[in-house]
Order: sequence, then structure tokens, then C-alpha cells
Amino acid sequence: MTDYSKELEIAKQAAQKGSEIIRNYTSNQNFNIELKGKNDLVTDADLETEKVILTHIRNVFPEDQIMAEESAGERRVPEARTWLVDPIDGTTNFAHGFPIYCVSVAMWEHGEPKVGVVLEVGRDQLFTAQKGRGARLNGSLIHISRITDPADSLIGTGFPYRDLHMVEHYLDLFEYLMHNTHGVRRPGSAAYDLCCVAAGYFDGFYEYSLNAWDVAAASLIIQEAGGEISDWEGDDNWLFGKRILAGNKVIHDFLLNAVEEHFTPEERKAEK
Ligand code: IPD
Ligand code: CA
Ligand code: CA
Repeated sequence: MTDYSKELEIAKQAAQKGSEIIRNYTSNQNFNIELKGKNDLVTDADLETEKVILTHIRNVFPEDQIMAEESAGERRVPEARTWLVDPIDGTTNFAHGFPIYCVSVAMWEHGEPKVGVVLEVGRDQLFTAQKGRGARLNGSLIHISRITDPADSLIGTGFPYRDLHMVEHYLDLFEYLMHNTHGVRRPGSAAYDLCCVAAGYFDGFYEYSLNAWDVAAASLIIQEAGGEISDWEGDDNWLFGKRILAGNKVIHDFLLNAVEEHFTPEERKAEK
């Protein structure tokens, strides 16, 4: 098995450099907010953080490709070595001072994640994974939850706020989960939400409209923690499919059934 320790180290360093920039902006409260589209915010902090992260990666791996939220990149599952970067996942939280946002850095090769780092800035929680070597939080191994009864589960999600065409069915599913689980949470950072599944805080997670850089790192952290990840049809097209579902095996399958019952086949279909 290829050793990706160096890539993991660089991903951690890049995320830490990024989080320093974010912390400076947080303490000054001095940043511009612009709209990229409806409810799609970008701040100076996103742009500067991304620049610092990409520079750090390029200095060490100049040949590698990069797909990053604020500078984009090619939209397909990476075969060649590719870094997927979200400088601030949870920009709306950041812009409002709600303290849940993180830096997400992943390295993919041969169509699968090899390294994933998610640094939650507020509490300095560093989630890391290297393919085949387990998932860690601040250096200690983490494991997916062992809850097997959906009635005892806590579910994470993201509420639709840009693409609202499925809102009605989304609310139906939400009502069903309110009746059949301990509750539903919406922290506001998909990368962090997925790490909450990896650490066993959440038993499952679902959302639609996510982008590749939101999920590229945390997906490996979930897999290495023993969890399942799929699109809304139970298949593997979750990086660009815009529909994601994760959890331990039992809660993943419970959510897959729930999604099947509340959305039409067309709505569940992964984007290509
Ligand atoms: C967003 C966050 C949010 C999710 C959105 C994402 P951003 O990322 O992950 O939780 O609901 O769909 O776009 O824009 O803050 O990087
Ligand atoms: Ca994001
Ligand atoms: Ca972002």
C-alpha cells in the first residue's frame, strides 16, 4: 500500500496555515462579504485562506492538480493526483460570527481519497485520515457510532438554502425523522457534519446540493472510521452527484430507505 504520510503532513500544515488566516479575520471582524449567487457568500477570508493553502501545496507538489472552491478546477472524479480544497466550509456561519466552520483539504488519486484533513477552527478540532490507516481526531483514533436502533439516533443534515426545488419533500422527510429519531441537527458546515458522523456524535447524515470540495476530505475520514457513504440511490456517485448519505451501516440504510420513501426517483438521481 502506498504511503501518503508526506501528503497528510502537508495537508495538515496547509489547513493550520489556513486556520491562522481565518482566526486573524475573526479577531479583527474586518472583512468584505460578497454574493456569488443567491445566498452564496464569499469573504476576503475565503480568498486569502485559499491562496495560502494552495501556495503551500504547490510549493511541495508542483505537478499535482488542484480543485478549490474559489478558483475551481476540472469537474470529474480525479484519476491523477488532485488536491480538493474548501478554504472555509461554513462561510455563512463565519460571516455571521456563528462559530462552526472549518478548513477542508483532501488529496485524491485513482478515483479515491488518499488523504483527508478537516480542521474545525473554533475548537481547534483536527480530523485526519490516510487511506488504510484509520481516522483520527487530534491524533486519537475515532470510530463511527454503534447505535443500531434509528429511534436512538441523532441525525445531521443541511437545510436547503440555494436550490429550493425539493423543499417540500425535504420537509416531509424532516417530519418523519422528528418522529422516528432523537432529533435532527444542522451545524452549517458539511465537512464538519460528516466528521461528526466519523466521531460518532451523529449516527447518520444526508444533504443535497453539496460540492466535491465540501465532502472530499470528510468522506475518507468517515470511511476510515468504519462508516458508509453513498449517493441517494446507494451508489458511489457522491463526489459530484450532489446528494450524499452517510452513517454507520444500519443508520445509513435507514436513511436510504427514508429518502426513497420521501423523494421521487428523479429527485434522488445523482447528477452526472
Ligand atoms: C456550505 C456548507 C453548508 C452546506 C452548503 C455548503 P460553504 O459550504 O457546507 O453546510 O449546507 O451546501 O455549500 O459555501 O460554506 O463552503
Ligand atoms: Ca463548502
Ligand atoms: Ca467554502
